[in-house]
Order: sequence, then C-alpha cells, then structure tokens
Amino acid sequence: MTVAFGHPHRHFRRTDSTNERAKDLTLGGAPGGLVVTADEQTAGRGRRGNEWFAPAGSCLLYSALLRPFSAEATGLLPLAVPVAVCEAAESVAPVRCRVKWPNDVWVDERKVAGVLVEARPDEGWAVIGVGLNVAVPREDFPPELRETADSLLPTEAEGGLPPGGAPGVRSALAALNESLGRWVAAGDDEVLPAFRARDALSGRRVAWEGGEGTASEIDERGHLVVEKPDGERVALGAGEVHLAVGD
Ligand code: BTN
Repeated sequence: MTVAFGHPHRHFRRTDSTNERAKDLTLGGAPGGLVVTADEQTAGRGRRGNEWFAPAGSCLLYSALLRPFSAEATGLLPLAVPVAVCEAAESVAPVRCRVKWPNDVWVDERKVAGVLVEARPDEGWAVIGVGLNVAVPREDFPPELRETADSLLPTEAEGGLPPGGAPGVRSALAALNESLGRWVAAGDDEVLPAFRARDALSGRRVAWEGGEGTASEIDERGHLVVEKPDGERVALGAGEVHLAVGD
C-alpha cells in the first residue's frame, strides 16, 4: 500500500514557511496527500527552532500532509522520511545519501536535506516538511554553512543546470512524492533495516548535552544507542538531544 502525495498541490512563489501553509490548509480541512511547495521561504523553519536557509528557486521546499495519522501506526515516521528523501535524491542525481540520525540527509558528510515533521496525533495528522538543496552554488550558502552544506547537482557555473535549477527541483518533487508515499506506508520491519543501511553515525564518536560516546545502533524504537566510555549504553530519543559528530 502507498499514500498518494501531490494531490492537491499548492505552489507559492514566496511564502513564510511551507509547513505553516500546510498546517493552515490542514486546519481548513485539506485532504491527506496535500503537498505545499515554494520557490522561496521568508521564515523557513528547521528543527530545534532553527532557521532554514534556502536560496530562492534552487531548493525543493516541500510540506506534505499525512492524514489520517496515528502515532502508534507510524512511530518510525521520523526515520521513514529521510529514507524516502535519500531515494528521491539518488534518483535525480548521481549521489549516495546517508542519514545522520535522526533525519539529516548527507552526501559525503555534507548536509543536503533536512526534515521537520510536525505531528498532531490527537487530531489525526502530521505535516512532513523537507528542505532539499538541489542546485545551490557553494558561494550562495552563508559562510557558516559552506563547510557543512551541499546540494545535489552541479550548478551552471560548475557545468550543470541553468540558474535556479528549476528542472532539477521539478524532478526532485516528483521523485519525493513517489518515494515518500511508499515509505510512510512501510512497516517498521522495512523502515528500520533501510535506515540502518544508511546510518552515517554507526561507530562514530558523538557528543550531546548529557555526555559523549560511540554511536552503536538504532534500536527498535528508532532511538540512537550510544556506548559511553565507561561501557554504559544509553538510548537517545530524537527530540531530546543535539548531537555533535566526531571521527
Ligand atoms: C532541519 O533543521 O534540518 C529541518 C529543515 C526543514 C526545512 C523544511 S523547508 C520546507 C519546510 N518548511 C519549513 O519551514 N521547514 C521545512
């Protein structure tokens, strides 16, 4: 079974945040499958209250409404979404994506996509926000992101797409509607192995507000299990920690 994302589809040339628009439409009665996209966001939001940077026209700025939604039925949604983003990215560009738990999508250790799921299980819906850098010239990233962010396709200056990368963004949209539809409907027994196969942290040193250790595995609940220097194993929940990654 799959969920058909992309019907209806609302596109904004410029809006504050596609997640905000999707939530408004949700509260107004929009059906599951709704997708909201924008060329540009004036108040794009990332996880943990961060701002999401995306130059106009060269990123896929995407929010999809999953309805009906129940937390029990889709407990691994935050892991299923980045798997879907990886597959979509790999279908439009010659890249191999991995996931920095819980849901940053990396190519060669640089972040190309982020995921912001805003769920209201009590109201039966979740908005799945994805920001995917498709064709962003490196110099267009702010200095603080230039060493850690990247995009999928070479830009015109690099022998690739024309300015804006619109064809790449359109291809990425179609690919994400398809892969997200499959992965949100997948069972935990499919999501966990797919995520683990793309886990960028396994064996790496990580630090969080409460300690540091070596990332070991993703457990059945989707938590990151870390082994501390004293041998204690702790399971970190996605909402609880901010991770710094070492070697
Ligand atoms: C992260 O911090 O990594 C998550 C970033 C999510 C950004 C996307 S862009 C489309 C959608 N609208 C938003 O305001 N945020 C998400």
